[in-house]
Amino acid sequence: GPEIFGARKNSMGLDLTYDPHLAQIEVARGTYADTDFTGAPLIAGTPKGGPVVMVKNPSTHAPIGQITWASAEDVETALASAKAWDASAAERAKVLNRAADLYEENLGTFFALLSREAGKIWLDCMGELREAVDFLRYYASRVEDHARAPVGVFTCISPWNFPLAIFSGQIAGALAVGNGVLAKPAEQTGLVAYEAVKLLHQAGVPREVLQLLPGDGATVGAALTSDARIGGVAFTGSTETAQIIRRAMAANMAPSAPLIAETGGLNAMIVDSTALPEQAVRDIVASSFQSAGQRCSALRCLYVQEDVADAMTDMLVGAMIELKQDDPWHLHTDLGPVIDNEAYQGIKTYIDAARTEGRIAHELTAPEGGFFIAPTLIRVNGIEDMKREIFGPVLHIATFKASELDQVIDAINATGYGLTFGLHTRIDDRVQHVCDRMHVGNAYVNRNQIGAIVGSQPFGGEGLSGTGPKAGGPMYMDRFCQAALADRH
Ligand code: NAD
Ligand code: ALA
Repeated sequence: GPEIFGARKNSMGLDLTYDPHLAQIEVARGTYADTDFTGAPLIAGTPKGGPVVMVKNPSTHAPIGQITWASAEDVETALASAKAWDASAAERAKVLNRAADLYEENLGTFFALLSREAGKIWLDCMGELREAVDFLRYYASRVEDHARAPVGVFTCISPWNFPLAIFSGQIAGALAVGNGVLAKPAEQTGLVAYEAVKLLHQAGVPREVLQLLPGDGATVGAALTSDARIGGVAFTGSTETAQIIRRAMAANMAPSAPLIAETGGLNAMIVDSTALPEQAVRDIVASSFQSAGQRCSALRCLYVQEDVADAMTDMLVGAMIELKQDDPWHLHTDLGPVIDNEAYQGIKTYIDAARTEGRIAHELTAPEGGFFIAPTLIRVNGIEDMKREIFGPVLHIATFKASELDQVIDAINATGYGLTFGLHTRIDDRVQHVCDRMHVGNAYVNRNQIGAIVGSQPFGGEGLSGTGPKAGGPMYMDRFCQAALADRH
């Protein structure tokens, strides 16, 4: 429509004067009106089907379709029929590349679902489709480097916050080296997963080699991570769930079965007095509030050097006030809703407690009608005050004196998490000093700390944040191969 052409550049980077972005928007608009999306298990056999779950838009609560979850019988059919992929490396690469083409051709469906099922703004829809396609092509490009025996059949379990990119990345990594895959998407985002698996099948992945089992973690997820027929598990989600899965695997699967777990974070950024304030504020806002803070990589605790803290906080609050929160489908929207009622209630309760304790530095008013949490800034003495990851648009702020830099680094390391870290400074030696001591997977200097790029910025954490290897990097596919054979090479 004509309103697009007059629109501003979205403050988080969607460029409405850039023709390819506009073309994508037009395609997706055509699909958005659909309120009749359906999904079901995709297994080697006719699914019996379990509970049928209504899917609602987190911004409006309006139904957008329904999905049939897998029954216990469907899980058994999939486990019994699953097999590794015996195609040649060249054939596997060809099929994964074909799937990437199909993903791009089906942009309209994906954008509509990412926005309506997962609450994603346009910019995030674009980034997510791009990342999914990049994973498919990147792992396809490396099949020849990993000409080793696959483990067998992998269970892939993914979160709702990257329902296409992480879902597809795990599957592509496993398939590229010739494993079979049983994929369980998050409860909240089964429709995106269903569309993706249909396209992977259409591209040529055989039905027994890739099966989709939508359902909840406690039943379908638990069954798929505690069966001796499974060779390994790729999991992305919370640290707590990774610990449950590790116990289930230890009790039921071969001791050698690999667990690739990519989990949560308590991510910090340090801004010293030499940072460029405008740049730092822009990067703080993107790191904390893009995707409504629902990224594992998101900034949770900001340390600002005392001398510039008042000025920086004023600028940050000014930038927060400018953020537009609304239905993510609108082009003016900078941040949408959180994913569901459980997330909404949990974050609200957390903010309410901070308010009671007088720790709110700034809060805004959220729109009504959906699971909207307004961007919120909470004062803390340091990261040690934060006991867990709050998965939403909530940023904590602390100050430090120049002489306390090493104590700040120690406090960040002491959380035990180690996913992302941001540093804003114009002192070169300080970059080296801080990054050498910081125990994290991905450190970002003088930029935001989200949105790692497949192939050039392999992504993954250490400690409580994950087992490695980094997704989108050269080592990832090794973990999907048999360890004993890898050693012999
Ligand atoms: P979650 O752990 O609740 O769920 C993740 C997946 O695990 C879902 O598919 C769920 O159904 C499944 N699951 C739950 N219980 C299970 C069980 N007992 N057995 C098997 N599977 C089970 O996490 P979430 O709320 O969906 O996602 C948000 C979390 O994911 C955050 O902690 C975030 O930091 C993390 N995350 C990490 C990365 C990363 O790359 N490190 C990326 C995205 C998200
Ligand atoms: N890879 C995603 C990011 O970097 C999680 O934000």
